Amino acid sequence: MAITTCVFDAYGTLFDVAAAARQAADEPGFDALRDKWPELANHWRLKQLQYTWLRAVTDAHADFWDVTQDGLDWALEAVSLQGDAPLRQRLLDLYWELQAYPEVPAMLAALKAGGMQTAILSNGSPPMLNGAVQSAGIGDVLDDVLSVESVGVFKPHVRVYDLVQDRFGCARDEVLFVSSNGWDAAGASGYGFVTAWVNRAGEPMDRLPWTPAHVLPDLTTIPELAGL
Ligand code: LAC
Repeated sequence: MAITTCVFDAYGTLFDVAAAARQAADEPGFDALRDKWPELANHWRLKQLQYTWLRAVTDAHADFWDVTQDGLDWALEAVSLQGDAPLRQRLLDLYWELQAYPEVPAMLAALKAGGMQTAILSNGSPPMLNGAVQSAGIGDVLDDVLSVESVGVFKPHVRVYDLVQDRFGCARDEVLFVSSNGWDAAGASGYGFVTAWVNRAGEPMDRLPWTPAHVLPDLTTIPELAGL
C-alpha cells in the first residue's frame, strides 16, 4: 500500500540527544566535562533507555522526564561528576532545547508539500516534546505530536504504536515509521509499519525477531522513500 503517513521517533532521530553534553562542555564553568562529555552522553542515553524498558516490563511507569533525570544521575556518578549541581541543572535545561539534525526542517517541509501526514511518536512527555518542537521551529510541518503518556507505557509496547492508527485511521502498512533506535525500528516492523532505521553511527543491527525495512545514514532521503 502507498505511504500516507510518516511518523518519527523524537530523541536521537529528529533531535540530537548528544547536543546537551556537547554544548555544556563548551560553556564556561564546565571544564570538568571537556574530556568526559562523550562518555557522559553515552551513559546518559543508555541508562535512560534501559530505565524505560525496565519500567515497561515491571509495570512501573514514570514519565520520561523522571527517567531522563534518573539516567543523568547514574551517568554523572559513572564519570565522577555527581556533586556538580550547576552542571546537572545546565544539562537538564539543555535537554528542553536540543538541536534538530540539520536536514530535519527541509525534510519535513517536503513531506508536507507532498501531501503526507506527519507526526512524532515518542517516549517524551508532552511538555518536553513541546519544548523541543518549539525550539527546533518544526511545529508547522507536523500534524501531531503523539506521546506515550496517553497510554502510560514506553516503547516498544504495541499500545504505543496503536496511537498512530487511533490518530490517523490509516492501515499499518501505510505508515513509514522512522527511528534512529534500532530496537524501536525493529519493534515497529513487528507491529506492521514500514520502517526506516537511521543508523548515523554505523552500529550493528539489533538481534531481534524483526528487522527494519530500510537502513539510512540520515534523514535526507525520507521523502523519496515515502514515494514522493
Ligand atoms: C523517543 C526515544 C526512544 O523519542 O528516543 O521515543
